[in-house]
Amino acid sequence: MVVFAPRYVWLVMSVFFLHLCLDRCVQAVRLLEKEFEQKVDHFDFSSRAGRTYKQRYLMTDQFWRKGVGPIFLYTGNEGDVWSFANNTGLMFELAPSFGALVVFAEHRYYGTSLPFGTLSFERENVGLLSIEQTLADFATLLLHLQRDLGAEKCPVIAFGGSYGGMLSAYFRMKYPNLVAGALAASSPLYLVAGLGDEFQFFRDVTADFERYHHKCPNMVRAGFAAIKSLASKQQWVALSSKMRLCGDLNSSNDLPYLEGWIRNAFTVLAMMDYPYKTTFMSPMPANPVNVACDILLKSDDPLTGLRDAAGIMYNSSGTKNCYNIFEDFKPCADPTGCGVGWGSLAWDYQACTEINLLCSSNGKTDMFPVISFTSALREQYCQKQWGVTPRQDWLATQYWGTDLRAASNIIFSNGDLDPWANGGIRKNLSQSLVSIMISGGAHHLDLRSSNPKDPPSVIQARKQEELLIRGFIQEAVMSERSTFERD
Ligand SMILES: *[C@@H]1O[C@H](CO)[C@@H](O)[C@H](O)[C@H]1NC(C)=O
Ligand SMILES: *[C@@H]1O[C@H](CO)[C@@H](O)[C@H](O)[C@H]1NC(C)=O
Ligand SMILES: *[C@@H]1O[C@H](CO)[C@@H](O)[C@H](O)[C@H]1NC(C)=O
Ligand SMILES: *[C@@H]1O[C@H](CO)[C@@H](O)[C@H](O)[C@H]1NC(C)=O
Repeated sequence: MVVFAPRYVWLVMSVFFLHLCLDRCVQAVRLLEKEFEQKVDHFDFSSRAGRTYKQRYLMTDQFWRKGVGPIFLYTGNEGDVWSFANNTGLMFELAPSFGALVVFAEHRYYGTSLPFGTLSFERENVGLLSIEQTLADFATLLLHLQRDLGAEKCPVIAFGGSYGGMLSAYFRMKYPNLVAGALAASSPLYLVAGLGDEFQFFRDVTADFERYHHKCPNMVRAGFAAIKSLASKQQWVALSSKMRLCGDLNSSNDLPYLEGWIRNAFTVLAMMDYPYKTTFMSPMPANPVNVACDILLKSDDPLTGLRDAAGIMYNSSGTKNCYNIFEDFKPCADPTGCGVGWGSLAWDYQACTEINLLCSSNGKTDMFPVISFTSALREQYCQKQWGVTPRQDWLATQYWGTDLRAASNIIFSNGDLDPWANGGIRKNLSQSLVSIMISGGAHHLDLRSSNPKDPPSVIQARKQEELLIRGFIQEAVMSERSTFERD
């Protein structure tokens, strides 16, 4: 057997100290940034077989019981891997007692892990952006690390949040030979496989605002109605100046941008509704949903109320004189938002291929204007943007849809404030496919560092996750032993 032996590049790019408070702030986390010479195409043994790119990953061995302790691998999602490391304190808090090696792997086509550099999003190059290639990257990197560090016998636990959580679940499903178990936090596995309800997401965003104050959603509806009313009278200058837009809107073709820009802000407020100040998808005050509702309820004009509530997201610096909605917001194949920059291109492509996010708002079960995103609209958009036709059923086929019976050792955690929760797994599917619900929890709150403002539910959830992970590791160690004994 020829052992696959890539030429490794161990570049120590930089060392970061994460400002986490482990053991009451005595220990800082030293996270090293490294690169791995990764295969560009794992499934082509011919034309592109030799081609590689630099996949970035972060690592710390400061807690590791060398050669024995488990490997905690974060399966990076749609963004700069540092932003996930900075917002996944749980792994560093668990690492000391497990003696774990902690690794964060960056997802191809995001951050600095661009297989074709600045040409990565050209049509002839973007096709290697797929979940299958990404999981193969993780597997290859993992095997390299295990060999290089003498960690072949160290059980691996995959961690991930949101799309990264989907990847950690899929990683266990696809490579159970490498991965002992996974924590898939706030992962809408059903929704993204096209098995959800198109109105669920924005209904659940709305429910968060309703929960704080029953009048809040109607204030939002009134704000959107005021926009519609000015637009129907062609009062573009008045509308634009009330919204403090940098440039005037001129026609009803511009209206969807304004509506999308506002809906996107409310979506992020709901997802990031943590009980303390954060800087994740953007800087957020504590309980941003409550802050937004207070602004709306105090405002005597629903339109300016809506503007200032959206300003929590778009004017977090407090330095903007006006809003450039065309810069802040780009419509894309994910109606819940793709963000801006390189990463938004990659995510748009993924939402045009494997990831089905057909989320619409209707103004009735939710507080937003009627904005539909049907599969016909998606196809049209994706053809135009990328020259691709989405494959509606592929994700459910490749990663098992709702039939996860053959899977094991995966924790699916969800918070009831998270609009993604109802797109995920909220039932125990077996002894080892465990669903943990976190009351008062927003988007993967459980992955974050402990905080004095944490609700008791998340403290409990983290304890339960720790116990389950110990079980997965125990099982891997035992089966390793019995295999050995049989030989
Ligand atoms: C992550 O945290 C480090 C250290 O606090 C900071 O320098 C860096 O800008 C953060 N990166 C991201 C992407 O959040
Ligand atoms: C509206 O028209 C003005 C003047 O022609 C132009 O500067 C502005 O960019 C237009 N706005 C949009 C949204 O296209
Ligand atoms: C941004 O916030 C600052 C500080 O609160 C405020 O003075 C400014 O008017 C806001 N900008 C917009 C466009 O509303
Ligand atoms: C799943 O089972 C665990 C015990 O293993 C329990 O704590 C949890 O509440 C159950 N989840 C649901 C959604 O019923």
